[in-house]
Amino acid sequence: MLHSAPSLAPSPVAGVRAVGITVYGCEHDEAQLFRETAPRFGVLPFVTEEPVSEATVDLAVGNRCISVGHKSQITSATLRALRRVGVTYISTRSVGCNHINVGYAESIGISVGTVAYSPDSVADYTLMLMLMAVRHGKSMIRRADLHDYRLGAVRGKELRDLTVGVIGTGRIGTAVMDRLRGFGCRVVAHDTRPRPGVAHLPLDDLLARSDIVTLHTPLTPATHHLLNRRRIEQMKPGAFVVNTGRGALLDTDALLCALEGGRLGGAALDVLEGEEGIFYADCRNRPVGSESLLRLQALPNVIVSPHCAYHTDHALRDMVENSIVNCLEFEAAWVG
Ligand code: COI
Repeated sequence: MLHSAPSLAPSPVAGVRAVGITVYGCEHDEAQLFRETAPRFGVLPFVTEEPVSEATVDLAVGNRCISVGHKSQITSATLRALRRVGVTYISTRSVGCNHINVGYAESIGISVGTVAYSPDSVADYTLMLMLMAVRHGKSMIRRADLHDYRLGAVRGKELRDLTVGVIGTGRIGTAVMDRLRGFGCRVVAHDTRPRPGVAHLPLDDLLARSDIVTLHTPLTPATHHLLNRRRIEQMKPGAFVVNTGRGALLDTDALLCALEGGRLGGAALDVLEGEEGIFYADCRNRPVGSESLLRLQALPNVIVSPHCAYHTDHALRDMVENSIVNCLEFEAAWVG
């Protein structure tokens, strides 16, 4: 079972031994915030830039709980090595946990928790991508950067004239729908667990009706290539796809076909199949190594950003605090 930490824990009790947590894969600003925040919770963080791996499990010796980033896949061998040094709880600083085989971790005695953080970070970004897509933002900025200040040949669209299909109505999907209502568009939704008060449609109907389809569902075996070739063909001609969820929710080859063939109006992708090892790296002086990424980036109606929708100061504060809370709750359950 996955654990998440939606709320903050009370201050530590005086005289109780501080809980140690090894925090792997920490960016500079995350590290600083962990060091500033942890004492308030009676926690001693051991913070390292190193990602968790077989080579770095020794950094967790003495701590039952570790916190990990989402950037590297945690192999089964690493999970076994972590268990050998006494780790029984991993809190990942992300909502998604497809970088960890949770079932395997649990089978060897390691629980896995995710952290909730401001869904507004991703929801704001999603709206920005939608607006950029329907106003032809990429080609407009490209032209202006080249000092070509003429208007584009095709006019943009106003959100209020469009139907937006939201796939996945969890915290982020809901925050996206709240924003869309403010723009006056028609919003339809699809989720395997429909929420009251939201107009849910079967997926095929949503695809056939939506001018923009936005993805906010977790990546699981059941949602892998949720938008496959057949489903992309069901979309309205000229429709847009926005993906701030996970790259593999979309069949990238099928998407490329639809975009290059002019069947879809455009796409805005903050996540991409095969992004691992490319996104977050400085590839200015080395081959990017993904043909589909290069083909997507060549298209004037495709926006690609490097999985950064979550990257806000508010979300960072939430991630750090809720990672600490996750570990404290696990420790409390262990002791109690
Ligand atoms: C998630 O929380 O699952 C995300 O995709 C953002 C993550 C990269 C921190």
